Amino acid sequence: MAFSCLVCLFLGFLSKSLFATAQLEDQATLLAINRELGVPGWGANDTDYCKWAGISCGLNQSMVEGLDLSRLGLRGNVTLISELKALKQLDLSSNSFYGDIPSAIGNLSQLEFLDLSLNKFGGVIPMELGSLKNLKSLNLSNNMLVGQIPDEFQGLEKLEDFQISSNKLNGSIPSWVGNLTNLRVFTAYENDLGGEIPDNLGSVSELKVLNLHSNMLEGPIPKSIFAMGKLEILILTLNRLKGELPESVGNCKGLSSIRIGNNDLVGVIPKAIGNVSSLTYFEVANNNMSGNSLSGDIPTSILGCKSLNKLDLSNNRFNGTVPNDICNMSRLQYLLLGQNSITGEIPHEIGNCMKLLELQMGRNYLTGNIPPEIGHIRNLQIALNLSFNHLHGTLPTELGKLDKLVSLDVSNNQLSGTIPPSFKGMLSLIEINFSNNLLSGPVPTFVPFQKSPNSSFFGNKGLCGEPLSLSCGKFLSFRSGELPS
Ligand SMILES: *[C@@H]1O[C@H](CO)[C@@H](O)[C@H](O)[C@H]1NC(C)=O
Ligand SMILES: *[C@@H]1O[C@H](CO)[C@@H](O)[C@H](O)[C@H]1NC(C)=O
Ligand SMILES: *[C@@H]1O[C@H](CO)[C@@H](O)[C@H](O)[C@H]1NC(C)=O
Ligand SMILES: *[C@@H]1O[C@H](CO)[C@@H](O)[C@H](O)[C@H]1NC(C)=O
Ligand SMILES: *[C@@H]1O[C@H](CO)[C@@H](O)[C@H](O)[C@H]1NC(C)=O
Ligand SMILES: *[C@@H]1O[C@H](CO)[C@@H](O)[C@H](O)[C@H]1NC(C)=O
Ligand SMILES: *[C@@H]1O[C@H](CO)[C@@H](O)[C@H](O)[C@H]1NC(C)=O
Ligand SMILES: *[C@@H]1O[C@H](CO)[C@@H](O)[C@H](O)[C@H]1NC(C)=O
Ligand SMILES: *[C@@H]1O[C@H](CO)[C@@H](O)[C@H](O)[C@H]1NC(C)=O
Ligand SMILES: *[C@@H]1O[C@H](CO)[C@@H](O)[C@H](O)[C@H]1NC(C)=O
Ligand SMILES: *[C@@H]1O[C@H](CO)[C@@H](O)[C@H](O)[C@H]1NC(C)=O
Ligand SMILES: *[C@@H]1O[C@H](CO)[C@@H](O)[C@H](O)[C@H]1NC(C)=O
Repeated sequence: MAFSCLVCLFLGFLSKSLFATAQLEDQATLLAINRELGVPGWGANDTDYCKWAGISCGLNQSMVEGLDLSRLGLRGNVTLISELKALKQLDLSSNSFYGDIPSAIGNLSQLEFLDLSLNKFGGVIPMELGSLKNLKSLNLSNNMLVGQIPDEFQGLEKLEDFQISSNKLNGSIPSWVGNLTNLRVFTAYENDLGGEIPDNLGSVSELKVLNLHSNMLEGPIPKSIFAMGKLEILILTLNRLKGELPESVGNCKGLSSIRIGNNDLVGVIPKAIGNVSSLTYFEVANNNMSGNSLSGDIPTSILGCKSLNKLDLSNNRFNGTVPNDICNMSRLQYLLLGQNSITGEIPHEIGNCMKLLELQMGRNYLTGNIPPEIGHIRNLQIALNLSFNHLHGTLPTELGKLDKLVSLDVSNNQLSGTIPPSFKGMLSLIEINFSNNLLSGPVPTFVPFQKSPNSSFFGNKGLCGEPLSLSCGKFLSFRSGELPS
């Protein structure tokens, strides 16, 4: 009894002194770090470093468990930080650190959160970071890291957030990334990654964010990423992905962004898209002549995506019609359908898209008249582009109500009649194109018209007046709409 009490007294003393030693060690380390980095505000209250800016200590006010030195414009050697043995959170983001990431950081066995993003760290990612078995969040994005994702990282089984975007990493995405059961966020965009996306990615974890845009990834969009149904953001733009958007995309009710433009995708938009009730952005566009060539209809099921804000199908081979109910997606701000093979007429119901900021329908096979109801979309401001279609009839006077519209392109159709004087109501107009139609009569006197190059009016039947060199002369007295004979 007495003996054991002695032991416990002794142990108590021992742990107390170990504790004091550790404390002194951290203090010495912090003073050394401060000498190296010159952290603003440090050292003024020498004795209690737990109160220094950016430092948090354990509950027992002993060792440093959190170090947040983000956004302080620091540079210098951060190796010493690896001596703060109890560190759980280390944030060095948004500074000017450069050179190799010290491999000694791999000694911080308690580390759960490591953010080195937004610096100028270079060289390869040290494999020693793979020993950080408690790591839940690793952010190395926005540096100048080269080489491959180290295979030693496959031991980081607790990893939830893995961000390595905007570096110069190459090689492929290792298949073990798909075996990380806790992975929620994986971003590796803007690197030089090749190969295929692992076909098990998302199959064992509730993946929420996958952003791999601007790499050289090949192969299909794996079905596995939709398997758990938790995906919220999918960005794969600017890669070389092939194949179709899997039907299983419909599993993900919470998916708000699907951005898969500038790839080599084919096929149709799966009907199941209508089950993605949170969809806000859907972009499969190409800015490049080669690339995606999706085809078929704009599926009516997509009209069930009531939150859709941007539908960008530009430069594909969609060949159906514009659904009459397109404005059931009442939040639509961007309807970008240019450079497809869309047929039929522009539905009159388009006037119900009250939130629309941009309407691109150029280079399709649209027929019929321009619906006057477009003039009801008072928000329309970025562009109204109906060029290179087979539209005929007259320009509706109602378009003159679009007083926020900056760019109007109705060129290369078979539009006839005059340019309505009401168009002078388009007070924000900067860019216009009426060329290659069957328009006639005087160009209305309106600064944006006369300031435009005369090519904006070329190729019509009988337009006259500035900026064209053909003067209207005596025909000016003709009522608009009548042709000079
Ligand atoms: C020193 O500590 C006091 C209170 O503990 C605090 O008000 C003060 O801002 C600290 N000074 C610096 C330079 O951190
Ligand atoms: C105090 O903190 C240290 C380092 O985090 C830890 O090892 C020790 O167990 C803690 N002691 C108590 C009583 O919480
Ligand atoms: C950084 O400091 C450590 C010791 O703390 C030293 O071993 C290492 O060489 C230094 N690194 C550089 C790049 O100066
Ligand atoms: C810390 O890490 C370095 C490099 O990985 C290693 O050489 C060193 O032995 C480690 N120190 C401790 C105390 O674990
Ligand atoms: C780095 O990633 C982590 C985890 O996703 C995140 O919490 C942190 O805010 C990111 N850092 C910056 C500077 O954005
Ligand atoms: C990856 O980049 C490194 C360094 O920039 C280079 O030496 C290596 O050959 C590259 N590997 C591949 C597979 O492209
Ligand atoms: C991933 O897990 C599967 C199933 O447990 C296993 O067969 C495979 O070998 C693992 N892959 C890697 C790269 O660890
Ligand atoms: C869409 O959801 C409904 C109801 O949840 C379900 O019956 C249907 O199979 C789903 N369709 C697809 C293609 O996922
Ligand atoms: C078009 O594709 C080429 C090669 O695939 C790429 O280098 C270029 O950046 C792309 N251009 C645009 C505007 O996306
Ligand atoms: C649209 O394209 C698909 C696939 O290329 C084709 O099967 C279908 O017949 C086309 N539809 C029309 C109306 O041209
Ligand atoms: C669009 O809305 C109208 C009126 O609310 C409704 O009758 C129609 O079924 C809807 N269409 C689709 C495809 O959801
Ligand atoms: C209108 O769209 C067509 C087809 O996409 C494009 O070629 C043209 O440049 C666009 N017009 C303007 C003014 O941007």
